[in-house]
Amino acid sequence: MAPVRHIGVFTSGGDSPGMNAAIRAVARSAAFHGIQVSGILGGYEGLVNDQLRPLGPRDVSNIIQRGGTILRSARSEAFRTADGRAKAAATVQRHGLDALVAIGGDGTFAGAKLFHEEHGCRVIGLPGTIDNDLFGTDRTIGFDTAVNTAMEAMDKIRDTASSHDRLFFVEVMGRDTGFLALASAIASGAEYVMVPELCQSIEQLVKELGQASRLKSSSIVVVAEGDEQGGAVTIAERVKQHLPDRDMRVTVLGHLQRGGSPTAMDRILASRLGVAAVERLLAGEHNCMLGEVNGTVLSTPFAEAIGKQKKLQEGLVAMVGILAT
Ligand code: F6P
Repeated sequence: MAPVRHIGVFTSGGDSPGMNAAIRAVARSAAFHGIQVSGILGGYEGLVNDQLRPLGPRDVSNIIQRGGTILRSARSEAFRTADGRAKAAATVQRHGLDALVAIGGDGTFAGAKLFHEEHGCRVIGLPGTIDNDLFGTDRTIGFDTAVNTAMEAMDKIRDTASSHDRLFFVEVMGRDTGFLALASAIASGAEYVMVPELCQSIEQLVKELGQASRLKSSSIVVVAEGDEQGGAVTIAERVKQHLPDRDMRVTVLGHLQRGGSPTAMDRILASRLGVAAVERLLAGEHNCMLGEVNGTVLSTPFAEAIGKQKKLQEGLVAMVGILAT
C-alpha cells in the first residue's frame, strides 16, 4: 500500500454543527504529521466535478465555533451512478489523493463503501449528523448542539404554553429515529414523546394527556418527524378529535436544529475524531467509521456502521412519563 501523503476531506449529506471543528482537526493534525490536505467542495459532488482547494492549517483558523460547513455539503445524485463514481475516481487520481476523510451520515458511508469496492479508494468516515442514528458511536457530531437548540426552543414554548393553558405539539427532526426527540423531551421536561422506534397509539397519548390535564393546565408533546402516526400536525389533528375543547398549537422546529455554534461537547468530539482519522489512515486503517464508545475512539467497518441499527434506550421513553407525574 502506498504511503499516505495527501488527504482529501469533505462533508456530505445534511450538515451538522461541529463539522467545521472536524475539518479543522483533520487539516491541523495532517499538517502536524507533514501531510498535504485538500478540501473537496460540496461533498461527493465536488469529487465528481473536480472542485478542490488546498487546506493548510491557517485556512481553518476561526472556524471551530461556526455552524454549517466551510466545505459546503450536498446529497449528490451523480455519485449514485457508476459513471459519476468513475469521474470521482479520476479526480482522486488526478490530484494524487492517497486517502479521503468523509464527514457525514449513513448515505455518506454507503457511498464510501461502494467507492472503496469499485475503485479501491481508502476512506475513513467521521459521524456527522444531528440524528445520532449511527451504530459504532455513542454520539454523532452535531447531536448535542441540536438537542440544546431544541431544548432552548421548548423552554420558550413552555413559557407561552403555561401562560395560555395550551397543549403544544413540537416536531423535531429525526427521519427514522427518535434520539433527538427523546433527549430533547427529557431535557425540556416534556410530558410525552413520540418516536419512530415504538408503536405508540393516539388512544394511549390521549389517555395520558387526559391524566396530565388533571394535574396541570399545559403540556408539551415532542414528536419525531418520522413517527409512524405522522408528523406533529397530523397527530395534533387526530388528538383534537378526541379532545375538542383543548386549546392546541403546533410548532415544527425544522432546519433551525441544524444550525448554530457547536457546543463544547461537539467541538471536543469532532476535534478528537478528526485527529484520530489522520492517525488511523497513517497506521493503515480505512473503509471504516470512527466513533467514541464509552470514552474511547473505536473504528467500525462501514458495512456495520450502516448495516446495524443503533438501539434507542426505550426505557427512557417511559421515564418521560414518570417525570411528567
Ligand atoms: O439527516 C439529518 C436530517 O436533518 C434529518 O433529521 C432530516 O430528516 C433531514 O436531514 C432533512 O434533510 P434536508 O436538509 O435535505 O431537508
